[in-house]
Amino acid sequence: DTTTKGPYEHYMLKEIHEQPALVDKLAAFYIKNEGRKELDSLKGFKAPAWHLTACGTAWHAGLVIKNYFEQINRQRADVDIASEFRYREPILNKGEVGLFISQSGETADTLACQELCKEKGIETFSIVNTEGSTLFRNSDKNFLIHAGVEIGVASTKAFTLQALTGYLMSRAMEGTLDDPKLFSEIQLLSNRIGELCAQSDSLKEVAEKIYTKKGFIFTGRGKYFPIALEGALKLKEIAYVHAEGYAAGELKHGPIALIDENIVNIAVVGPELLEKTVSNVEEVKARRGIMVVVGPKNSPEIEHLADAYIPLDFNGLPNLSPLYVNVALQFLAYHIAKLKGTDIDKPRNLAKSVTVE
Ligand code: G6P
Repeated sequence: DTTTKGPYEHYMLKEIHEQPALVDKLAAFYIKNEGRKELDSLKGFKAPAWHLTACGTAWHAGLVIKNYFEQINRQRADVDIASEFRYREPILNKGEVGLFISQSGETADTLACQELCKEKGIETFSIVNTEGSTLFRNSDKNFLIHAGVEIGVASTKAFTLQALTGYLMSRAMEGTLDDPKLFSEIQLLSNRIGELCAQSDSLKEVAEKIYTKKGFIFTGRGKYFPIALEGALKLKEIAYVHAEGYAAGELKHGPIALIDENIVNIAVVGPELLEKTVSNVEEVKARRGIMVVVGPKNSPEIEHLADAYIPLDFNGLPNLSPLYVNVALQFLAYHIAKLKGTDIDKPRNLAKSVTVE
């Protein structure tokens, strides 16, 4: 039942916990059941350029999807914040596709971008949760994320399912939906998220160490950069603390000036770029900053440097690890907000769906 909290204290917590089952359901829907037809229509599809547009958390999902389209399909994909795209006179050519990502399907800026693409005569596709929404009705093709109702204002399950849907679209274009490894990779994602849900108390312990600090800088490289942005957004939305996401390599170009004993750097690192991160950690530590690393388990070279280490198992998730890591940050934001006593499901000044400009 999506409209009650069940045993959970908040809708946000409930929605985080729903993710393993929803991930499994979405994979079955698109690979084995009714959704397959929709995805098969993308087989061999190639657009000269994709224009991905969204707001907030959905924009971060767009950044994840861009990487899939570029790396798996070698297709150009630009990602824009909807309120920017609509006023910047984007170059839109015939054959290109506008792809709009939205939980509600009613976000005013995103809808305006869709209108703009339609005026320019390019096709519009959506990755959307709400069947029958304005975005859904006006799109040439819709890829539903089947998240059920999302009540927490801070979006959690919608992000995971938007990014997963984009990944499935990418594999559909590649023509590899029948690769048995795909289904097992997604099952593994669901299992790993399930493990995080079962061990959420260890993330609470990390939250207890840092929740009184003044500011939080999330860093990530490559496929983890969008996750750094999303982790910071989640935290600022519900815990009312200053948090920003940065590309790890940019730390030296500004944010390092902020580092002192009241600032926490939450570094998201995959096994791919672990060595580069060691020097970043040393730099932060040298300035007395608090270092939290979310990284691969059994990494003694970095574990002993961090004030808190969140060990994750990246094995077997070459493409989906960003979605997994993100769930750890969802829990971290939740626990920090809870310790601060904020209104987690209805944070001040925020709306679930922004239907005015
Ligand atoms: C609001 C919500 C966010 C959401 C964004 C885009 O800011 O608080 O959680 O990511 O709108 O909403 P959409 O419905 O288009 O995904």
